[in-house]
Amino acid sequence: MVKSTEVQSVNRVIKCYDVPGVNIDHKTVSSFGVEWNAFHGFSELDLQYTGDMYFDIVTKEMLNDQSTVIDIGCGSGRWIKYLDGRYKKVIGLDPSEAIFAADKLLGKNDKVELVRSSTDHIPFPDGYFDFAYSLGVLHHIPDTEKALVDSVRKVKSGGHFLVYLYYRFENRPFYFRIFYWLSNLVRRGVCKLPHRLKKGVCNFLAVILYMPFVLLCRFLRFIGVPEKIRFHIPLQAYEKQSFYIIRNDSLDRFGTPLEQRFSTKQITAMMTKAGLTDIRFSDKIPFWHAVGRKI
Ligand SMILES: C[S@@+](CC[C@H](N)C(=O)[O-])C[C@H]1O[C@@H](n2cnc3c(N)ncnc32)[C@H](O)[C@@H]1O
Repeated sequence: MVKSTEVQSVNRVIKCYDVPGVNIDHKTVSSFGVEWNAFHGFSELDLQYTGDMYFDIVTKEMLNDQSTVIDIGCGSGRWIKYLDGRYKKVIGLDPSEAIFAADKLLGKNDKVELVRSSTDHIPFPDGYFDFAYSLGVLHHIPDTEKALVDSVRKVKSGGHFLVYLYYRFENRPFYFRIFYWLSNLVRRGVCKLPHRLKKGVCNFLAVILYMPFVLLCRFLRFIGVPEKIRFHIPLQAYEKQSFYIIRNDSLDRFGTPLEQRFSTKQITAMMTKAGLTDIRFSDKIPFWHAVGRKI
Protein backbone atom coordinates (compact mmCIF):
# COMPACT_ATOMS: atom_id res chain seq x y z
CA MET A 1 0.00 0.00 0.00
CA VAL A 2 1.58 3.31 -1.10
CA LYS A 3 1.01 6.09 1.45
CA SER A 4 -0.53 9.37 0.30
CA THR A 5 -1.30 12.79 1.73
CA GLU A 6 -3.67 15.46 0.46
CA VAL A 7 -2.06 18.85 -0.12
CA GLN A 8 -4.13 21.98 -0.57
CA SER A 9 -2.62 23.89 -3.51
CA VAL A 10 -3.85 27.24 -4.91
CA ASN A 11 -6.73 25.85 -7.01
CA ARG A 12 -7.34 22.26 -5.88
CA VAL A 13 -6.40 19.54 -3.44
CA ILE A 14 -3.58 17.40 -4.84
CA LYS A 15 -3.15 13.80 -3.75
CA CYS A 16 0.59 13.23 -3.23
CA TYR A 17 1.87 9.66 -3.08
CA ASP A 18 5.11 8.55 -1.45
CA VAL A 19 6.57 7.58 -4.80
CA PRO A 20 8.43 4.28 -4.54
CA GLY A 21 12.02 4.64 -5.73
CA VAL A 22 11.89 1.77 -8.19
CA ASN A 23 11.72 2.99 -11.80
CA ILE A 24 12.48 6.66 -11.24
CA ASP A 25 15.54 8.92 -11.27
CA HIS A 26 15.07 11.26 -8.33
CA LYS A 27 17.76 13.75 -9.44
CA THR A 28 15.99 14.11 -12.80
CA VAL A 29 12.60 14.53 -11.13
CA SER A 30 13.94 17.19 -8.77
CA SER A 31 15.49 19.05 -11.71
CA PHE A 32 12.12 19.05 -13.53
CA GLY A 33 10.37 20.34 -10.42
CA VAL A 34 12.60 23.42 -10.54
CA GLU A 35 12.33 23.71 -14.34
CA TRP A 36 8.54 23.77 -14.50
CA ASN A 37 8.22 26.17 -11.61
CA ALA A 38 10.51 28.52 -13.59
CA PHE A 39 8.74 27.97 -16.95
CA HIS A 40 4.96 27.89 -16.87
CA GLY A 41 3.91 31.18 -18.45
CA PHE A 42 3.27 29.94 -22.00
CA SER A 43 1.53 32.26 -24.43
CA GLU A 44 -1.60 31.01 -26.25
CA LEU A 45 0.39 31.17 -29.49
CA ASP A 46 3.26 29.02 -28.12
CA LEU A 47 0.82 26.45 -26.76
CA GLN A 48 -1.21 26.26 -29.96
CA TYR A 49 1.82 26.01 -32.25
CA THR A 50 3.68 23.39 -30.19
CA GLY A 51 0.56 21.43 -29.18
CA ASP A 52 -0.51 21.10 -32.82
CA MET A 53 2.86 19.48 -33.56
CA TYR A 54 2.51 16.78 -30.87
CA PHE A 55 -1.19 16.05 -31.46
CA ASP A 56 -1.11 16.06 -35.29
CA ILE A 57 -1.73 12.29 -35.43
CA VAL A 58 -4.56 12.27 -32.87
CA THR A 59 -8.03 12.09 -34.40
CA LYS A 60 -11.46 13.04 -32.97
CA GLU A 61 -12.27 9.32 -32.73
CA MET A 62 -9.29 8.84 -30.39
CA LEU A 63 -9.82 11.93 -28.23
CA ASN A 64 -12.98 14.00 -27.80
CA ASP A 65 -15.21 15.63 -25.20
CA GLN A 66 -16.38 12.18 -24.02
CA SER A 67 -12.85 10.93 -23.27
CA THR A 68 -11.37 10.18 -19.87
CA VAL A 69 -7.73 11.09 -20.26
CA ILE A 70 -4.41 10.93 -18.40
CA ASP A 71 -1.29 13.01 -19.03
CA ILE A 72 1.59 10.93 -17.66
CA GLY A 73 4.46 13.20 -16.58
CA CYS A 74 2.36 16.32 -17.11
CA GLY A 75 5.07 18.77 -15.96
CA SER A 76 3.62 22.29 -16.07
CA GLY A 77 0.29 20.93 -17.37
CA ARG A 78 0.70 22.80 -20.67
CA TRP A 79 -0.80 20.01 -22.82
CA ILE A 80 -3.84 19.75 -20.57
CA LYS A 81 -4.34 23.47 -21.10
CA TYR A 82 -3.84 23.03 -24.87
CA LEU A 83 -6.48 20.25 -24.93
CA ASP A 84 -9.12 22.36 -23.18
CA GLY A 85 -12.59 21.25 -24.42
CA ARG A 86 -11.30 17.95 -25.87
CA TYR A 87 -11.91 15.74 -22.80
CA LYS A 88 -14.61 14.86 -20.30
CA LYS A 89 -12.12 14.47 -17.49
CA VAL A 90 -8.31 14.62 -17.38
CA ILE A 91 -5.78 13.51 -14.80
CA GLY A 92 -2.36 15.16 -14.74
CA LEU A 93 0.21 12.90 -13.08
CA ASP A 94 3.74 13.94 -12.19
CA PRO A 95 6.13 12.95 -9.36
CA SER A 96 7.83 16.36 -9.11
CA GLU A 97 7.11 19.79 -7.65
CA ALA A 98 5.93 20.63 -11.19
CA ILE A 99 2.49 19.42 -10.12
CA PHE A 100 2.06 22.70 -8.18
CA ALA A 101 3.05 24.74 -11.26
CA ALA A 102 0.41 22.75 -13.19
CA ASP A 103 -2.17 23.66 -10.55
CA LYS A 104 -1.44 27.34 -11.12
CA LEU A 105 -1.38 27.10 -14.93
CA LEU A 106 -4.65 25.16 -15.11
CA GLY A 107 -6.56 27.31 -12.62
CA LYS A 108 -9.91 26.23 -11.19
CA ASN A 109 -11.39 23.55 -13.45
CA ASP A 110 -13.65 20.70 -12.24
CA LYS A 111 -12.61 18.52 -15.18
CA VAL A 112 -8.93 18.52 -14.16
CA GLU A 113 -7.49 16.41 -11.35
CA LEU A 114 -3.80 16.47 -10.43
CA VAL A 115 -1.92 13.63 -8.76
CA ARG A 116 1.67 13.60 -7.55
CA SER A 117 2.94 10.13 -8.39
CA SER A 118 5.04 8.21 -10.92
CA THR A 119 4.56 5.53 -13.57
CA ASP A 120 5.35 3.00 -10.83
CA HIS A 121 2.11 3.92 -9.13
CA ILE A 122 -0.69 5.26 -11.34
CA PRO A 123 -3.53 5.21 -8.81
CA PHE A 124 -6.36 4.23 -11.19
CA PRO A 125 -7.71 0.80 -12.19
CA ASP A 126 -6.27 -0.93 -15.26
CA GLY A 127 -8.25 -0.09 -18.41
CA TYR A 128 -9.65 3.12 -16.87
CA PHE A 129 -8.69 5.64 -19.58
CA ASP A 130 -9.97 6.19 -23.13
CA PHE A 131 -6.86 8.11 -24.07
CA ALA A 132 -3.46 8.47 -22.43
CA TYR A 133 -0.39 10.39 -23.48
CA SER A 134 3.15 10.86 -22.26
CA LEU A 135 5.17 13.51 -24.05
CA GLY A 136 8.90 13.80 -23.43
CA VAL A 137 8.78 11.77 -20.22
CA LEU A 138 9.55 8.08 -20.59
CA HIS A 139 13.09 8.65 -21.93
CA HIS A 140 13.88 10.28 -18.54
CA ILE A 141 12.95 7.09 -16.67
CA PRO A 142 15.57 4.35 -16.10
CA ASP A 143 13.49 1.51 -17.59
CA THR A 144 11.53 3.18 -20.39
CA GLU A 145 10.01 -0.08 -21.59
CA LYS A 146 8.59 -0.92 -18.15
CA ALA A 147 7.25 2.63 -17.71
CA LEU A 148 5.48 2.29 -21.05
CA VAL A 149 3.97 -1.07 -20.08
CA ASP A 150 2.82 0.37 -16.71
CA SER A 151 1.25 3.37 -18.49
CA VAL A 152 -0.48 1.51 -21.33
CA ARG A 153 -1.99 -0.93 -18.79
CA LYS A 154 -4.23 1.93 -17.64
CA VAL A 155 -5.78 2.38 -21.11
CA LYS A 156 -8.96 0.48 -21.97
CA SER A 157 -9.14 -1.96 -24.86
CA GLY A 158 -9.76 0.07 -28.04
CA GLY A 159 -8.41 3.24 -26.36
CA HIS A 160 -5.31 5.07 -27.59
CA PHE A 161 -1.86 6.02 -26.32
CA LEU A 162 0.28 8.87 -27.67
CA VAL A 163 3.98 8.91 -26.85
CA TYR A 164 6.90 11.19 -27.66
CA LEU A 165 10.41 9.83 -27.15
CA TYR A 166 13.73 11.41 -28.12
CA TYR A 167 14.96 10.04 -31.45
CA ARG A 168 18.32 8.59 -32.49
CA PHE A 169 18.74 10.89 -35.52
CA GLU A 170 18.33 7.92 -37.87
CA ASN A 171 16.48 10.13 -40.39
CA ARG A 172 19.20 12.82 -40.28
CA PRO A 173 22.63 13.36 -41.85
CA PHE A 174 25.73 12.21 -39.90
CA TYR A 175 26.60 15.71 -38.60
CA PHE A 176 23.46 15.72 -36.43
CA ARG A 177 24.97 12.80 -34.50
CA ILE A 178 28.24 14.71 -34.09
CA PHE A 179 26.39 17.77 -32.74
CA TYR A 180 24.43 15.48 -30.45
CA TRP A 181 27.59 13.80 -29.15
CA LEU A 182 29.18 17.19 -28.37
CA SER A 183 26.00 18.57 -26.79
CA ASN A 184 25.76 15.48 -24.63
CA LEU A 185 29.24 16.14 -23.22
CA VAL A 186 28.07 19.65 -22.28
CA ARG A 187 24.86 18.23 -20.75
CA ARG A 188 26.78 15.81 -18.53
CA GLY A 189 28.59 18.78 -16.95
CA VAL A 190 25.73 21.30 -16.88
CA CYS A 191 23.17 18.96 -15.31
CA LYS A 192 25.33 18.63 -12.19
CA LEU A 193 25.32 22.37 -11.45
CA PRO A 194 23.19 23.83 -8.64
CA HIS A 195 19.73 24.79 -9.93
CA ARG A 196 20.20 28.58 -10.13
CA LEU A 197 23.57 28.40 -11.85
CA LYS A 198 22.23 25.72 -14.18
CA LYS A 199 19.36 27.97 -15.27
CA GLY A 200 21.79 30.83 -15.96
CA VAL A 201 24.13 28.59 -17.96
CA CYS A 202 21.21 27.16 -19.97
CA ASN A 203 19.98 30.68 -20.78
CA PHE A 204 23.50 31.43 -22.01
CA LEU A 205 23.51 28.21 -24.10
CA ALA A 206 20.14 29.23 -25.57
CA VAL A 207 21.84 32.41 -26.84
CA ILE A 208 25.15 30.98 -28.05
CA LEU A 209 24.11 27.49 -29.23
CA TYR A 210 20.46 27.68 -30.25
CA MET A 211 20.10 31.22 -31.54
CA PRO A 212 22.81 31.16 -34.28
CA PHE A 213 21.05 28.19 -35.95
CA VAL A 214 17.59 29.64 -35.32
CA LEU A 215 18.54 33.03 -36.78
CA LEU A 216 20.18 31.37 -39.78
CA CYS A 217 16.99 29.37 -40.44
CA ARG A 218 14.82 32.49 -40.02
CA PHE A 219 17.01 34.38 -42.48
CA LEU A 220 16.91 31.54 -45.03
CA ARG A 221 13.12 31.35 -44.66
CA PHE A 222 12.93 35.12 -45.18
CA ILE A 223 14.86 34.92 -48.45
CA GLY A 224 12.70 32.02 -49.65
CA VAL A 225 14.92 28.96 -49.10
CA PRO A 226 12.46 26.02 -49.02
CA GLU A 227 11.78 24.08 -45.82
CA LYS A 228 13.07 20.80 -47.30
CA ILE A 229 16.54 22.45 -47.39
CA ARG A 230 16.27 24.23 -44.01
CA PHE A 231 15.23 20.87 -42.50
CA HIS A 232 18.89 19.75 -42.79
CA ILE A 233 20.05 22.51 -40.43
CA PRO A 234 20.27 21.50 -36.75
CA LEU A 235 17.64 23.14 -34.52
CA GLN A 236 15.54 24.24 -37.51
CA ALA A 237 12.58 23.02 -35.45
CA TYR A 238 12.96 26.20 -33.40
CA GLU A 239 12.80 28.71 -36.24
CA LYS A 240 9.17 29.60 -35.42
CA GLN A 241 9.47 29.18 -31.65
CA SER A 242 9.65 32.04 -29.15
CA PHE A 243 12.84 32.73 -27.17
CA TYR A 244 10.89 31.67 -24.04
CA ILE A 245 10.36 28.16 -25.46
CA ILE A 246 13.99 28.02 -26.61
CA ARG A 247 15.23 28.93 -23.10
CA ASN A 248 12.85 26.35 -21.61
CA ASP A 249 14.07 23.63 -23.99
CA SER A 250 17.71 24.55 -23.39
CA LEU A 251 17.18 23.95 -19.66
CA ASP A 252 15.23 20.77 -20.45
CA ARG A 253 17.97 19.44 -22.74
CA PHE A 254 21.13 20.47 -20.87
CA GLY A 255 19.82 20.48 -17.31
CA THR A 256 18.46 16.93 -17.14
CA PRO A 257 20.67 14.17 -15.69
CA LEU A 258 19.01 11.18 -17.38
CA GLU A 259 18.00 10.97 -21.03
CA GLN A 260 17.80 8.09 -23.46
CA ARG A 261 17.16 7.92 -27.19
CA PHE A 262 15.24 5.44 -29.33
CA SER A 263 14.82 4.50 -32.98
CA THR A 264 11.41 3.95 -34.61
CA LYS A 265 12.21 0.23 -34.57
CA GLN A 266 12.82 0.23 -30.81
CA ILE A 267 9.72 2.35 -30.13
CA THR A 268 7.56 0.08 -32.27
CA ALA A 269 8.86 -2.97 -30.39
CA MET A 270 8.19 -1.34 -26.99
CA MET A 271 4.70 -0.16 -27.96
CA THR A 272 3.85 -3.60 -29.33
CA LYS A 273 5.10 -5.28 -26.14
CA ALA A 274 2.96 -2.86 -24.10
CA GLY A 275 -0.14 -4.11 -25.95
CA LEU A 276 -0.57 -1.46 -28.66
CA THR A 277 -1.40 -2.06 -32.29
CA ASP A 278 -2.11 0.11 -35.38
CA ILE A 279 1.01 2.10 -34.45
CA ARG A 280 1.37 5.28 -36.45
CA PHE A 281 4.41 7.58 -36.37
CA SER A 282 4.19 11.21 -37.36
CA ASP A 283 6.55 12.09 -40.20
CA LYS A 284 6.87 15.59 -38.77
CA ILE A 285 8.91 17.04 -35.89
CA PRO A 286 9.23 16.43 -32.98
CA PHE A 287 10.78 13.03 -33.66
CA TRP A 288 9.49 10.53 -32.67
CA HIS A 289 5.91 10.81 -31.67
CA ALA A 290 3.58 7.92 -32.33
CA VAL A 291 0.09 6.79 -31.45
CA GLY A 292 -1.22 3.26 -31.00
CA ARG A 293 -4.49 1.49 -30.19
CA LYS A 294 -4.75 -0.79 -27.17
CA ILE A 295 -5.59 -4.34 -28.20
C1 LIG B 1 10.51 16.96 -20.10
S1 LIG B 1 9.32 16.97 -18.84
C2 LIG B 1 7.86 16.89 -19.85
C3 LIG B 1 6.66 17.49 -19.20
C4 LIG B 1 5.41 17.54 -20.08
N1 LIG B 1 5.03 16.23 -20.56
C5 LIG B 1 5.65 18.47 -21.24
O1 LIG B 1 5.90 17.98 -22.36
O2 LIG B 1 5.58 19.68 -21.03
C6 LIG B 1 9.39 15.36 -18.14
C7 LIG B 1 8.43 15.14 -16.96
O3 LIG B 1 8.45 13.76 -16.60
C8 LIG B 1 8.30 13.66 -15.22
N2 LIG B 1 8.80 12.35 -14.77
C9 LIG B 1 10.07 11.99 -14.52
N3 LIG B 1 10.11 10.71 -14.05
C10 LIG B 1 8.82 10.27 -14.03
C11 LIG B 1 8.21 9.04 -13.63
N4 LIG B 1 8.93 8.01 -13.19
N5 LIG B 1 6.86 8.95 -13.75
C12 LIG B 1 6.12 9.98 -14.24
N6 LIG B 1 6.64 11.18 -14.62
C13 LIG B 1 7.99 11.32 -14.50
C14 LIG B 1 9.12 14.84 -14.70
O4 LIG B 1 8.80 15.18 -13.36
C15 LIG B 1 8.82 15.93 -15.72
O5 LIG B 1 7.80 16.80 -15.32
